[in-house]
Amino acid sequence: LAEGPLTGRRILVTSGPTHEPIDPVRYIANRSSGAQGTALARALTSMGADVVFVTGPADADRPVGAHVVEVETAAEMLEAVQVVLPVDAAIFAAAVADWRVATASDSKIKKQAGALPSLDFAENPDILATVSQMTEGRPPLVVGFAAETDDVIANATAKRLRKGCDWIVANDVRPETGIMGGSENTVTLISDEGAEHWPRMGKSEVAHHLAERIAKQLG
Ligand code: C5P
Repeated sequence: LAEGPLTGRRILVTSGPTHEPIDPVRYIANRSSGAQGTALARALTSMGADVVFVTGPADADRPVGAHVVEVETAAEMLEAVQVVLPVDAAIFAAAVADWRVATASDSKIKKQAGALPSLDFAENPDILATVSQMTEGRPPLVVGFAAETDDVIANATAKRLRKGCDWIVANDVRPETGIMGGSENTVTLISDEGAEHWPRMGKSEVAHHLAERIAKQLG
């Protein structure tokens, strides 16, 4: 492990999408490359943190030096997160699917001419809200992300209060921004002190700035 301002700190990062099975060959998911979460894990590790990286099936390379836990579904992600606690800080960068298929089929659903399947959904646990609202053993710093396409600041500010996390890293993911799947990001850091706009920069730069803020906050 590298030595740095986060030496001795244990930090959880969730990243990537979750896949919610429909049947053994099909799933529903959110779009997520895992790039920002991976960059964050790298930045925290380089500053000395002991990082546990809980990731869904993402394309991005796994961060070297972090302890990597691979999961597939939101339910598995929540379970893995609960095993990792307690931590000094928890960063939820995963794009968790809001819904799962209520009863996934054990065998492949066959295509039938003229007949369309219908799916029943069930709500997934909100991992960020669950951890933010823990009455015992809540991490001292809980950070969520908010990928929005409209009213970014208003929605992200409301989300921070609704979920109960300390900070929200908000970003505008309208397709024309090129942020989704791209190498740059424009974020606003929302805390109880208000909204702080950061200039557009590379995802690894965003990660380093955020890691520095986390180190400052943990003292
Ligand atoms: O509500 P929304 O999905 O926009 O919230 C995004 C934030 O909440 C992200 O930090 C994401 O990792 C987290 N989240 C979660 N579990 C869910 C849904 C979102 O941890 N089921």
